[in-house]
Amino acid sequence: MKIIAHRGASGLAPENTLKAMTIALSLGVEAIEIDVQEADGELWVFHDRRLERCSDGEGVLSEHSQSYLASLNAGEGEAIPTLWQVMALITGRCELHIELKGVNTAKAVAALTQRAEAELGFTPEQWVVSSFHHPELARFAKARPEIRLGALTASLPLTLAQFAEELGAWSINCDVDFIDQALIDDAHARGLQVLVYTVDHPLDQQRLAQQGVDGIFTNRPDRLLAQAHS
Ligand code: G3P
Ligand code: MG
Repeated sequence: MKIIAHRGASGLAPENTLKAMTIALSLGVEAIEIDVQEADGELWVFHDRRLERCSDGEGVLSEHSQSYLASLNAGEGEAIPTLWQVMALITGRCELHIELKGVNTAKAVAALTQRAEAELGFTPEQWVVSSFHHPELARFAKARPEIRLGALTASLPLTLAQFAEELGAWSINCDVDFIDQALIDDAHARGLQVLVYTVDHPLDQQRLAQQGVDGIFTNRPDRLLAQAHS
């Protein structure tokens, strides 16, 4: 079962910061997940639409200038990183799962993944691009059809994993609160991987492994790595 550090090792450092990425890398994770949004022509690694919970800034991230966003403290003196800064830190040392938040990200992320392959040693197989915004995901797929897509859902769809197959996705990325055996089996029958967020307890990890889940997003990769390899 693949362990994916959720927002970096976000249980051990401020989420989506370079510090959280550095700790995840030092733990030897196979993959890191980050959230990406666009503002003022730049891609920022940040989860919320608003700035207050995870920084000392105020307001909606996408409405701010680059200079304002670059001046903020995202916790423990860490800045809000750009996507390029995270890519430059990781330099192809693990998979990067890029979750597109909001709109206006698909084209820019497509271009930046390409640049990172040319300049930072990534390969196209090292990206998974995911989103709850399925039209945005479809736009990304048009630009970079060779990259794996993760179709996110926060519910249990009536037609199970059919939505992800329609998108041409590689995986369904499901909420731990809604995952069930019928959905897992249906996804596998359609040739899709099943990834589950957010799983921090070893007993939940064990149960999901027994159900045949392929990977989990966790804020505490330090806790879950040992069990994943046993
Ligand atoms: O990509 C998995 C997970 O991160 C999706 O939900 O809200 O944590 O971005 P969220
Ligand atoms: Mg996310």
